[in-house]
Amino acid sequence: MDCERRRDYLYTLGIDLWVPRATAAAPPATAAGAPQSAAPSAAGAAGWERLRQEVLTCTRCPLHTSRTQGVFGVGPERCDWLVIGEAPGAEEDRRGEPFVGVAGQLLDAMLKAIGLDRHDNVYIANLLKSRPPGNRDPKPEEVAACMPFLERQIELLQPKIILAVGRIAAQNLLGTDSPLGRLRGAVHRFGATPLVVTYHPAYLLRTPSDKRKAWEDLKFARGVYQELTRGSATDGDRA
Ligand code: URA
Repeated sequence: MDCERRRDYLYTLGIDLWVPRATAAAPPATAAGAPQSAAPSAAGAAGWERLRQEVLTCTRCPLHTSRTQGVFGVGPERCDWLVIGEAPGAEEDRRGEPFVGVAGQLLDAMLKAIGLDRHDNVYIANLLKSRPPGNRDPKPEEVAACMPFLERQIELLQPKIILAVGRIAAQNLLGTDSPLGRLRGAVHRFGATPLVVTYHPAYLLRTPSDKRKAWEDLKFARGVYQELTRGSATDGDRA
């Protein structure tokens, strides 16, 4: 991404970018995730399709009675970055894609600021695949029923890093009730996969003064990813 576009995304985030004069015209920093659209193998593609069908027809918890449709996930079927949110909201339930409402637009801008795009190099999924009525918090039994789907998505995707957005996603993935503020700025693990935590974009819309902290988290996550992949080939070689 060029400097001008990065500045535009940071502007959308509400973050002033202070650039030293001498480096203002320097080439852009390496993107967090180089394009990684490795095509999955035939077996991988079949695994994704089987899983998608299971999610779309799932009746494991009562949420299937109130949802419009299951919301599976979006992004390349093999890539290094996985973003995990909480559960579909009204717009996601209507359109069948995670993070497509106002919060989703902010999430896209946040991800773009570190070189990530759902059509190119980041997969986006939720803990729950069905919308809880009235956007209430997921119940533990709903998370337990849905978690195997997320685990299978992770198995198929094989991400190098997970970004958990929001307290609910972070606490459920990490099995903790620590507040989000205490989980930020550290590398956790979900299974074997490094996991970094940041604020939910819906929270940031309500509390714009924390956008700067979210930007710190994104830079931290990008640094972790760069450290993890230093000297290794990009995803394109992993099929
Ligand atoms: N909030 C989430 O956590 N996920 C979505 O898909 C939309 C809003």
